[in-house]
Amino acid sequence: MSSKRKIAIIGVGHVGSTTAYTVAMQGLVDELVLIDTNEKKAEGEAFDIEDARAGLPVQLKVHINDYAQTTDCEIAVISAGPLPRPDQSRLDTLGDGVKIIDDIVPHLLGNGFKGIIVDISNPCDVMTHYLWKKTGFPVNRVFGTGTGLDSLRLRSIVGKVFTIAPESVEGYVLGEHGDSQIVPWSQVRVRGKTVPELIADNEKYRQIDLTQLASQISYRGWAVLLSKGSTMYGIATATAAIIRAVLNDENRILPVSAALSGEYGQRGLHIGVPAVIGRNGIRDIIELHLNDEEASGFAHSADVIKSYIAKIGV
Ligand code: 2OP
Repeated sequence: MSSKRKIAIIGVGHVGSTTAYTVAMQGLVDELVLIDTNEKKAEGEAFDIEDARAGLPVQLKVHINDYAQTTDCEIAVISAGPLPRPDQSRLDTLGDGVKIIDDIVPHLLGNGFKGIIVDISNPCDVMTHYLWKKTGFPVNRVFGTGTGLDSLRLRSIVGKVFTIAPESVEGYVLGEHGDSQIVPWSQVRVRGKTVPELIADNEKYRQIDLTQLASQISYRGWAVLLSKGSTMYGIATATAAIIRAVLNDENRILPVSAALSGEYGQRGLHIGVPAVIGRNGIRDIIELHLNDEEASGFAHSADVIKSYIAKIGV
């Protein structure tokens, strides 16, 4: 590995380029490798970030479209792949995504990349599982942003409802980064109480419909996509948190799409769960205590992911 903090971002469309700028703004890296099949786009993004260098916390170096530069990267973020059309679910983009991964992985392996792979590309859980199989890397080194983004949305929306800073809302969305995701409300805490306790204890919150709130969180990506064509700030923030946790060896608990081997009664898939993230990627999976309804929602979500994994035969 380089002694510099060096990462690659493969695919610099809306999501990849915003992630690049977010990590640059946060001063998380010394070197960025930007790669895209649209070479002009990668060059433009690199120049645009370089232009900002005098005002950034780190005078980072940007490499353009050179897989040889991934050899000593600590992280490769995969943000390549088609956006779902308004009439599609994330799962509908699977076929195109697989072809893109088939193209990327030989370049990474051929250049001796030995770092951590963080997948953003949708359908995130299935693509992450495919990347893991295709690279043959250990499970700690291949994971996806998964429900990290949905968990940011949860904290933002719940924070608004209870007039509390999102940072002070503790909780995670679990399952698929997609329509079958679940919010385990029994595990979402505000002011030291679970959300159902808070509602039961306070007359003014009685009207809150948690099913409707969970739908709002799950639909949020579509609300953004339909109005501006792509989501970018939330996902870039979730990805930057993962990059920071790895590069600074934080052992921070973050929701990611992780391979399960018996946790939550599941194996043979990647799915959104909280995990301890540090220098070596995933250190531990956190198993939350779910009630029966939440556990069966999680199992259903796992079945959805597994059915798509079966379609691509890995
Ligand atoms: C999102 O949820 C579309 O997966 C993307 O923002």
